[in-house]
Amino acid sequence: MTPDRLFDLDLPIIQAPMAGVQGSALAIAVSNAGGLGSLPCALLSVDAMRAELAAIRRATTRPYNVNFFCHTPPAADAAREDAWRDRLRPYYDELDVDTRNVPSGPGRAPFSREIADALGEFAPPVVSFHFGLPAADLLDRVRAWRPKVLSSATTVEEARWLEARGVDAIIAQGLEAGGHRGHFLSDDLTAQLGTFALVPQIVKAVRVPVIAAGGIADAAGVAAMLALGAAGVQIGTAYLLCPEATTSAVHRAALAGDAARHTALTNVFTGRPARGIVNRILREVGPMTDLAPAFPLATAAVSPLRQAAEAKGSGDFSPLWSGQNTSGCQPIPAADLTRLFAKNLPSN
Ligand SMILES: Cc1cc2nc3c(=O)[nH]c(=O)nc-3n(C[C@H](O)[C@H](O)[C@H](O)COP(=O)(O)O)c2cc1C
Repeated sequence: MTPDRLFDLDLPIIQAPMAGVQGSALAIAVSNAGGLGSLPCALLSVDAMRAELAAIRRATTRPYNVNFFCHTPPAADAAREDAWRDRLRPYYDELDVDTRNVPSGPGRAPFSREIADALGEFAPPVVSFHFGLPAADLLDRVRAWRPKVLSSATTVEEARWLEARGVDAIIAQGLEAGGHRGHFLSDDLTAQLGTFALVPQIVKAVRVPVIAAGGIADAAGVAAMLALGAAGVQIGTAYLLCPEATTSAVHRAALAGDAARHTALTNVFTGRPARGIVNRILREVGPMTDLAPAFPLATAAVSPLRQAAEAKGSGDFSPLWSGQNTSGCQPIPAADLTRLFAKNLPSN
């Protein structure tokens, strides 16, 4: 079954949910163009999520996807937190950040009962998760309105695990992908595969439809993934320059320039490996460091540096999330970009 049948889509194109750089506007544009628009909720309060879902409901009758992180929050570790702040202290001094005002605590909330209840009011047709799946009782709440349920797999083992728990489709997230790695069974990064290696192996291992993600930037890339057995694609980075995205000025500039040729997996911004453009904090503190508190606790101490630097027009301390392939990034409406991705597909 192809995802256009599965989700009642005209085009087998899913716009990747991208927390922090988009809201309902991008999702609406892609859904109305015949793809599947996604609303990322990892950084939204429940009230903000409600407002965004209401906006989507007003603007489209097409299917859309709502996305959540489902990590287990770590226990606070004061010693690690102190060591992290000590490592960042020279930057607080340089940027005149008052360390008494540096917040602590999580920046990204996992899927919860409260969220599930609010979501039920809207009964979105597709719900996707990153970092595995929520606990069985929470997932049952979601299944009550019979949405299609998706989650990311970064290995064949994760794909089998998700299939055994009844997901409707699996997003095979290759190592080229921008943003957080979705791994959840093992954090051994040597097991992470590129999209070209990962997709056919997952296709062979499971019966549910597989959606390829990571490094796909044009119609040829889409066609290649379909040829490898994917039922559809999920594309993130290429949408980041669209006017409907809320990508910051420093992030847009980095994506459009030479800097975007250098990406790395880094844990300095959140505590979990995620792919972003190499900037000063990655070069000097990371890209991977044992000092960063566990996900998502690393964020709080870095945020004031980001704010102070961005106020001066600098992206030195900003998470410039990006995949390895920025060749598809274009400052054109998301609907036009979606149609470009689907150009020449047999069904069109
Ligand atoms: C800026 C950015 C933010 C992201 N945030 C999320 C997110 O909130 N939830 C999620 O499931 N995936 C997130 N991802 C990962 C995407 O779902 C997807 O795996 C990735 O964008 C595909 O690779 P590409 O960026 O090369 O197209 C993010 C990716 C980017 C680039």
